[in-house]
Amino acid sequence: MSQSSGATYEPIETASIDELRSLQLQRMQWSLGHAYAHVPHYRSAFDAAGVHPDDLQDLSDLARFPFLMKQDLRDNYPYGMFAVPREQVVRVHASSGTTGSATVVGYTQADLDVWSRVMARSIVAAGGRSGDIAHNAYGYGLFTGGLGAHYGAELLGCTVIPMSGGATERQVALINDFKPRILFVTPSYCLNLIDEMERQGLDPSASSLEVGIFGAEPWTDELRSEIEERLGLDATDIYGLSEVIGPGVAQECAATKDGPTIWEDHFYPEVIDPETGEVLPDGEQGELVFTSLTKQAFPVVRYRTRDITTLLPGTARTMRRMARVTGRTDDMLIIRGVNVYPSQIEAEILRIDGLSPHFLLEVTKDGNMSTLNVQVEPQPGVTVGDEADRLLQAIKTNVGVTTAVEVAEVGALPRSQGKAQRIVNR
Ligand code: DLL
Repeated sequence: MSQSSGATYEPIETASIDELRSLQLQRMQWSLGHAYAHVPHYRSAFDAAGVHPDDLQDLSDLARFPFLMKQDLRDNYPYGMFAVPREQVVRVHASSGTTGSATVVGYTQADLDVWSRVMARSIVAAGGRSGDIAHNAYGYGLFTGGLGAHYGAELLGCTVIPMSGGATERQVALINDFKPRILFVTPSYCLNLIDEMERQGLDPSASSLEVGIFGAEPWTDELRSEIEERLGLDATDIYGLSEVIGPGVAQECAATKDGPTIWEDHFYPEVIDPETGEVLPDGEQGELVFTSLTKQAFPVVRYRTRDITTLLPGTARTMRRMARVTGRTDDMLIIRGVNVYPSQIEAEILRIDGLSPHFLLEVTKDGNMSTLNVQVEPQPGVTVGDEADRLLQAIKTNVGVTTAVEVAEVGALPRSQGKAQRIVNR
């Protein structure tokens, strides 16, 4: 375990491809067998599809197994998907249920240990090291962000400030006093923190922060540049979801900043065509699907994340990377027949001088027709001129859709306290 920049936390991160694939196959055979033996849902779903865990002789055989959908988890609420006796489950987390009822996930102590290790790996990949002070502004509670980052940072040997989300004024005061080097926060809430630093008369770029570990929501390279410039740190992308474990499924390496590396010795990725379910070759964009390889309490086999991305070859690590998540299939807007993700609008906004990253998308449904109204704030102190027109033109040219654009007053739009809510349906 070395601690210099470009360091790794565990040897498997740079093992040969052959070693990795053979470990994956061995673990996948165990995981499928474990799920089949202990979770009635997997037994009946595999039986119905005419497959048995013994049929997995090669990683590509995974394609013969049925998908796990969010609905399957809801149907088995709360404990029906657990593969160990409930007494061995030492912790549960639950998703907020913004797109339906909540889903519950569980962990054995061994699962929590794996989670802490992949989080520790993620922090090292982001440029953090043992001895660093880490300010954790991910929410603590049923959301996996707070506790996931917390235990990973402790395992690595960091001094953790368990701040959680909200209380923005206090967050800024504590960052100023405690001088953390690492910041865990959603990118949208990070903007809120930067604005608050400025409001308190502090210079954000002069803060002690050097390593930003930002995720839990889609964001863009344009927003990365904005945050890096204003806050003077290296901003990297962390990806994860409760069903698979929480934060730390994948983490971008600071040395390359070319999309999160998937810790695929624990979480096996596939990308599928969301319409047909067919597995796509690496390099093609589609829906990300995960199979857990080592989880005891809550194994997932071919879980459909609804996140849209592309699998890419490894660079800083042997393991494959994922392209920045463009958005979720559920967040995709269809405006006059054109598919639009909020992140595409964010990218256009940030390319226009004078506009701030605070925006809201208002969708009005009129029969089968949806129209989109983009509301965006100017940068503080900017006299608004033709920004709305320029944004409208840029969206038309680059996204391919005609929208209305309104430049609101500074501070008029809601601020994120965690995951930003970008879309309002009227
Ligand atoms: O958001 C776990 C997490 C916490 C990840 C902190 C990173 C940092 P859930 O609440 O279950 O878990 O939401 C998972 O959030 O399917 C994606 O749609 C989205 N998401 C998470 N990370 C990213 C990211 C946590 N880096 C859902 N980029 C996922 C884009 C992300 N979307």
